[in-house]
Amino acid sequence: MSATLIKGSEISKQIKEELKLEITELKKKYNVIPGLATILVGEDEASKVYVGAKEKACKELGIYSERINLPGDTKEGDLLALIERLNKDDRIHGILVQLPLPRHINKTNVLYAIDPKKDVDGFHPVNIGKLMLGEPDFLPCTPHGIQELLIRSGIETDGAEVVVVGRSNIVGKPIANMLLQKKKGANATVTICHTGTKDLASHTKRADILIVAAGRPKAITADMVKDGVVVIDVGVNRLETGLVGDVDFDGVKEKAKAITPVPGGVGPMTIVMLMKNTVQSAKMHAGIV
Ligand code: GUN
Repeated sequence: MSATLIKGSEISKQIKEELKLEITELKKKYNVIPGLATILVGEDEASKVYVGAKEKACKELGIYSERINLPGDTKEGDLLALIERLNKDDRIHGILVQLPLPRHINKTNVLYAIDPKKDVDGFHPVNIGKLMLGEPDFLPCTPHGIQELLIRSGIETDGAEVVVVGRSNIVGKPIANMLLQKKKGANATVTICHTGTKDLASHTKRADILIVAAGRPKAITADMVKDGVVVIDVGVNRLETGLVGDVDFDGVKEKAKAITPVPGGVGPMTIVMLMKNTVQSAKMHAGIV
């Protein structure tokens, strides 16, 4: 078997078109323009690329965007004061502080300072708590993108054995929580594997849907999956040979029913879900939802 490709690059375009229509209508009917502020502290090259892509997506969709670049030696207090200003700014419905932050800044203090109603990353503890309770305002962007990929590719999650490799706060823990909710596009039996897992392959071989966010190239090889598995590769590893995921794509695609490529799989979905959250926030602030 050679797998069908789950093309996030195409599915994300479709969602962008839906969002464009929604944004045009918001402006026409309610005079509301969604606004996103992105904050980048320091000179991390990958972060610059990510923030640039987010800004570009805003422009493309008609979302007002404010990009704030701060020097790497910015004091934590100054960053917190900026967030406080943006919390009060009516043009801004979403505030995103790009991670990682320089070491002298306490990430927790910064993420807690963002108004949960403007936390379009879904990283604030209030939003993480609401997600666990199944009543989210904002779903974190990468897990939300993964769920949309599954739904829009017609992959049944109801009763499926889902195995998540990786327990990060950004991907592993939230996607596991989302897929175990008793909801459409969820209701799965979920296992989370991590660096403390004893026999990783014994778990991954059981998966109907395998979600890999391990942060390591070739963490999953063909001998670790069953025939007909659906594989979502969240990895982004920059090697000399180019960008690769966490899954040995060439080997695993021969056994999988469907698989996301890297690049062009989960990555483009993350950005579009950020746009979706910003639109949703603008609607919430205007009392439209
Ligand atoms: N760094 C890597 N991924 C993300 C993300 O989704 N949001 C933010 N704010 N920073 C990141």
